[in-house]
Amino acid sequence: MSTARGGFSSRMGFILAAAGSAVGLGNIWGFPTQTASNGGAAFVLVYLVLAFCLAYPAFMAELLIGRYGQANAVTSMEKISRSLWQKRFAFVVGFGGIVCVVLILSFYGILAGKMMSYAIEPVTSLLGLNDASSWLISQSVVRNLIFTALFMVLTIAIIRRGVEDGIEKWSKRLMPMLIGLLILLIIYVFTLEGAKEGFAAYLNPDISRVFEPDLLISALGQAFFSLSLGTSVMVIYGSYISKSENLVTLGAQVTLIDVSIAFLAGLLIIPSMYVAQAQGVAIFSDDGSLISGPNLVFDVLPTLFTGMGAIGLFVAFGFFVLMSIAALTSSISMLEGPVSFVVERHNVERKKATTFIGFGIFILSALIILNFDVLFGLVISLSTVYGQPLIAMLCCVFVGWIWQRSGVLEEIKQGNDSAEHSLFWKVWPWYTKFVCPSAIAIVFFHSL
Ligand code: TRP
Repeated sequence: MSTARGGFSSRMGFILAAAGSAVGLGNIWGFPTQTASNGGAAFVLVYLVLAFCLAYPAFMAELLIGRYGQANAVTSMEKISRSLWQKRFAFVVGFGGIVCVVLILSFYGILAGKMMSYAIEPVTSLLGLNDASSWLISQSVVRNLIFTALFMVLTIAIIRRGVEDGIEKWSKRLMPMLIGLLILLIIYVFTLEGAKEGFAAYLNPDISRVFEPDLLISALGQAFFSLSLGTSVMVIYGSYISKSENLVTLGAQVTLIDVSIAFLAGLLIIPSMYVAQAQGVAIFSDDGSLISGPNLVFDVLPTLFTGMGAIGLFVAFGFFVLMSIAALTSSISMLEGPVSFVVERHNVERKKATTFIGFGIFILSALIILNFDVLFGLVISLSTVYGQPLIAMLCCVFVGWIWQRSGVLEEIKQGNDSAEHSLFWKVWPWYTKFVCPSAIAIVFFHSL
């Protein structure tokens, strides 16, 4: 099944790699914290609806473009374009996605590095290396630079090996570990006092909040970030799938895994907060809302782990290893975006391109670390709040208005003989043409 440019060797390989890209800090950290700050289960409900009704169709648009083009994002979109202006439009959207994902990786690497330093801390504590432990978990430029670099080196090492030997092989190893760790941690937290209360807070929706604009915007942003949309990544993953696979079902399976893991992560984090409260840790801020954001992961949970005594070291280790793995299977997909572009368009050898681009992105991260207060938030909003929805919307416009309908249907039919009788066939093309771009645009402009 692999072509000369590489490709996933099996259906499972694709599912785990795409789910690996989708499941990341966004699921295990972003989703529970957003849930905590947006009224608990009301957010979960809205998220589920938006993930399936808007993010999944947009996700399919990107996968189909890639599978049709069998090339990096820019080339794939150019292949579909017929006139000069369409080709220019294709370049802007494809290349825009690549710029966007480079920015995302530059801040994501910093957070992931921090997860790694927090994962090592329980080990140094166990060994009695107290100075090292406190250095690992205290904020410093040097620590951030070292661990961001370390995380980038891991990402580069996997991407240098290519699609089958790198992305697929490591996703197959890491994703089962991630799911296993997550379930073990949930079971353990459930045996602790306070967990039931957290469980209730997570699952009882305050329906009155469902239509709050801020909640809708956060949920949409979260869904797009989680499915790695608007960044060329899913176009490139789509290009590595064989024409004999049923893309519509594969895409749905990946979406389902992504959403389920976000939901499971909520089952871990929100009850953990209430367990922490039962142990005397403050989990509500002054205005009465649940603590969210960085404080949750880097203060509340570590305090909880410390309160557990010796076993807390193992739980903390498990938790931050889980975070690091989730980040790594995502960061490899991010690096693949620019690497595939440079390898295919500029004929650079893969290993060289990977090291060079990875190093460049690390320099960006270093700039952010050195100017943290100014740049960190700015890069996050530029790439995730503006860039991703905008480019995802343009991808839908591209499929709906530029790609000839017969061509789109032809691509859907590949590997899916009975496609013509499915609901997807009947609804998706016009849905992607009209509903997706307008809905994304409405939410996007509202957020401005
Ligand atoms: N989806 C990942 C998460 O939830 C992040 C991610 C991976 C991503 N690849 C991406 C986000 C590409 C945007 C673009 O953490």
